[in-house]
Amino acid sequence: MFTIAIGSDHAGFPLKEKIKEYLLSKGYRVLDFGTESTDSTDYPLFARDVCLAVQRGEAQRGILVCGTGIGMSITANKFKGIRAALCLNEYMARMSRKHNDANVLCLGDRILGDDLALAIVDAWLSTDFEGGRHERRVRLIREIEQSSKGLGD
Ligand code: RB5
Repeated sequence: MFTIAIGSDHAGFPLKEKIKEYLLSKGYRVLDFGTESTDSTDYPLFARDVCLAVQRGEAQRGILVCGTGIGMSITANKFKGIRAALCLNEYMARMSRKHNDANVLCLGDRILGDDLALAIVDAWLSTDFEGGRHERRVRLIREIEQSSKGLGD
């Protein structure tokens, strides 16, 4: 069953709950890694758990929500095999699937209204990777990831 891992910090909690309800109503299986309230917490913890679930194949995709979506996307892209896309509109959501084969969607609760956020989720989930020349580019990302060097390596 197509499974989506979701997570948020306190700022993203209200939207995360709406996305969860929406996904369940559409028949997706949802793994909710929290948070469970608007009490202040730290977004990297939830990005980590969602990305690990995607890496392990426990979920096919992940959706992460924080205030802006920026912290979630920075963290998620540290994980091998994760291509996280911060999307502000449906066009970005479609392109992140068609061209980048994004497997994690990052959203900002303080940026998006609920209707737009759900439309972005819908566009993202219903768009396939185009492959072709984009396959080569995603492979290059993978190669860079495998051999990535920091200063001193
Ligand atoms: C929390 O205040 C906020 O910094 C966080 O939700 C997120 O926007 C970080 O990128």
